[in-house]
Amino acid sequence: MPDESRSSVNNLRPFWMPFTANRQFKAAPRMLVSADGMYYTTDDGRTVLDGTAGLWCVNAGHGRKKIVEAVQKQVAILDYAPAFQMGHPGAFELASRLAQLAPGDLNSIFFCNSGSEAVDTAMKIAIAYHRARGDGTRTRIIGRERGYHGVGFGGISVGGIVTNRKFFGSLLTGVDHLPHTHDIAKNAFSKGQPEHGANLADELEKIVTLHDASNIAAVIVEPLAGSTGVLVPPKGYLEKIRAICDKHGILLIFDEVITGFGRLGTAFGADKFGVIPDMMTTAKGITNGVIPMAAVFARDGIYDAFMNAPENTIELFHGYTYSGHPIAAAAGIATLDVYRDEQLFERAAEMAPYFENALHSLKGTKHVIDVRNLGLVGGIELEPRAGKPTARAFETFLKAYEAGVLIRTTGDIIALSPPLIIEKHEIDRIVETLAKILPTVE
Ligand SMILES: Cc1ncc(COP(=O)(O)O)c(C=O)c1O
Repeated sequence: MPDESRSSVNNLRPFWMPFTANRQFKAAPRMLVSADGMYYTTDDGRTVLDGTAGLWCVNAGHGRKKIVEAVQKQVAILDYAPAFQMGHPGAFELASRLAQLAPGDLNSIFFCNSGSEAVDTAMKIAIAYHRARGDGTRTRIIGRERGYHGVGFGGISVGGIVTNRKFFGSLLTGVDHLPHTHDIAKNAFSKGQPEHGANLADELEKIVTLHDASNIAAVIVEPLAGSTGVLVPPKGYLEKIRAICDKHGILLIFDEVITGFGRLGTAFGADKFGVIPDMMTTAKGITNGVIPMAAVFARDGIYDAFMNAPENTIELFHGYTYSGHPIAAAAGIATLDVYRDEQLFERAAEMAPYFENALHSLKGTKHVIDVRNLGLVGGIELEPRAGKPTARAFETFLKAYEAGVLIRTTGDIIALSPPLIIEKHEIDRIVETLAKILPTVE
């Protein structure tokens, strides 16, 4: 008798893969079957060094025993509890831990399941907040060119990655975009924050003049833009954005889905840059990528503004079946324990200068037109192949994978974001692999 379950497992057709060239992948699949520490294992038994923390999420490295055990324990005790009008202790404990970790008074935590949901949630809270205060004309939200805020209609509308927007109709109305901050002519090969570009924040004043502050609810930016190819904010830029928002009563949302949980050597990007937003969206590293979870952090004043109606009314008509899911909450608590006990944020900060020097040794390597970095994030920009944008980076990705190193590419940019447990010899291996491969790439 044919083993039907097996044959259906081997049929690659039904799974419509996200953000993937499906036909190309299915013709030559790259399958990961297990993971431990800094390494994946493939279905043909090779180990692959994880230079990307999965998708910017496995900050403490793979297969962490404490997190695995917390998940196993929780699923046996309480598999699910309704999220509306009911509670369970884990969600409250995790929210308290997150509030303690957050800078300033970002003390109110709204749980979601993905970065995209967190972004939609923050946008909705921003608009509803102004309305709750009698400022209901403030509905417009300002994003930024090249911004990535996930794939919900809210996120792609304020986001600025053209391919993520152009296929999907008219998107949300009532948005506008700041210019992006990438200026390779002035800032190429910057170590850390680039010198030039703080003045680009002044464009926000122009946008405010165009629409009038009375119509603007919020500005949303990634403190360091990751998915577009690692754009580090110019010195002074975020401070200016904060000041302009304050001047006009506009909420500032930092999308910290990538920068949260130690990536920059601090708990959040807000800590690294010394700029505190009114809301933060987070996901990924919140559970070390083990169970889907996301959280929006809001300042006290935002939460309080919703608490004025009679006590028996629902203050915010928003939430998800799995908001604060018990297993995700358990994974989140254990993850925060690992970060704390192993001082992984501090470790990332200590390792950052070594990572920086290693990456910048690629200056002068064939095709490399820029290297940029902050914390344990690195971007290596390649000169695109004439008439074939993205092809050169994708070839590099394939060759690196064959050589046992997982990198990520976006456009013609290589983005590196290894787990925060990476050792120096592993940084060397990533960089040496790229140095060897790039001259062989067409
Ligand atoms: C800054 C930022 N926001 C939002 C998202 C979307 O997160 P998710 O894929 O969990 O929806 C991402 C994902 O990479 C991101 O980098």
